[in-house]
Amino acid sequence: MANAYQSMSTAELDACIAQLESEAEAIRAKNLSLDMARGKPSVEQTDLSRPMLDLVSSDMCLVDEGAPADNYGVPDGLPSARRLAAELLGVDPANVIVNGSSSLNLMHDLVANAYTQGIAGCEPWCRQEEVKFLCPSPGYDRHFAVTQRFGITNVPIPMREDGPDMDEVERLVQGDASVKGIWCVPKYANPTGITYSDEVVRRFAALKPAAPDFRIFWDNAYVVHDLAEEGDELLNIFDALEEAGATNLVYEFSSTAKITFPSSGMAFVTASPDDMAAIRAAFALERVSPEKISQLAHVRFLHDAQGVRAHMAKHAAILRPRFALVQSKLEEGLGDLGIATWTNPRGGYFVSFDGPKGSAKAIVSLMSSLGVTLTGAGATWPYGNDPLDTNIRIAPTFPSLDDLGSALDVFVVAAKLVSARLARAER
Ligand SMILES: Cc1ncc(COP(=O)(O)O)c(C=O)c1O
Repeated sequence: MANAYQSMSTAELDACIAQLESEAEAIRAKNLSLDMARGKPSVEQTDLSRPMLDLVSSDMCLVDEGAPADNYGVPDGLPSARRLAAELLGVDPANVIVNGSSSLNLMHDLVANAYTQGIAGCEPWCRQEEVKFLCPSPGYDRHFAVTQRFGITNVPIPMREDGPDMDEVERLVQGDASVKGIWCVPKYANPTGITYSDEVVRRFAALKPAAPDFRIFWDNAYVVHDLAEEGDELLNIFDALEEAGATNLVYEFSSTAKITFPSSGMAFVTASPDDMAAIRAAFALERVSPEKISQLAHVRFLHDAQGVRAHMAKHAAILRPRFALVQSKLEEGLGDLGIATWTNPRGGYFVSFDGPKGSAKAIVSLMSSLGVTLTGAGATWPYGNDPLDTNIRIAPTFPSLDDLGSALDVFVVAAKLVSARLARAER
């Protein structure tokens, strides 16, 4: 169906472009410097966790259930930190390692370990002829960057409303032994915000990979990051594996990055007992033991899953108006034009926007010239190559409400101008 610009007469369209160009010039004259690029918590959000900093001090006991936080040892992490992580993911604490502050770092470690040492006694990936990773797209650019860095072939997989295209996933995983992994963000996916349906989770658990060293990298980064009071329910992948009688298939990751302080939180990984034994052995060579003083502060502050949920409700109260503003500005500015669609997520950190074919790079570049930084167009696809050049990731969490409103006003003008110019170029 033709959009509003395609339906205009050429004279009307030219007048409309001239009007939008003058609006853009007026914006340029303001010399704005706004950022809607990365999914970072706002200052109000990180302030919520400042009291945690008072819970570890020089006069306090630095022992957690007999485990010292102030010395080497306890390589899997403090007992109460492992329990907290296990409760959040719904798994057995015995199968959890809490290590470092970045889950992305743990994912990188496990790709590196598979690459140099191999998984489950198989040849290391570096000695195999070709190694492929499936990349549901749009997806998280930093995932794709990790596998790209190791020379692994990133294969885009279409994303649907209920998760990745599972027909395609099954066809490739079960039919091609060079497919060694898949990147998944199963809850409030980055950037579409969708949560995988129970059926999709069950189909993942029922995969019969052609490669014995295939693993699902299940990055549950947004496990407790609900915006709505009633969050999405994600079926527990380890329950689904048990139901399917499967094991040694999933590495699950998460962290407190967007619960407390990004880069100063705790990251965790869980997998089957066999896989955990291999992960433990790999980590043992990489570090003597993890950073446990931070873990101690976290468990004293958050206590348990209920404590985390209460804390996340405070985050949600800060974030809800920002996400609502994105919806209202886009709806008011673009709703009638038929040029774009966007997601309205119930949690997570992003809104995924799709403009007309061939528009995304032009919108991002025009936005940059008008003083607003967005995530690079194409970043949500392997190799930065969005085949239709439509997708833009909007990250509304970090700017103040005022700044976000101004950035979205600019976005509306940029999306309209680029779409109108595309319609003109088609004539
Ligand atoms: C899906 C996803 N995974 C991981 C991360 C990074 O987490 P961490 O800080 O624990 O490395 C992010 C950050 O935006 C993310 O969106």
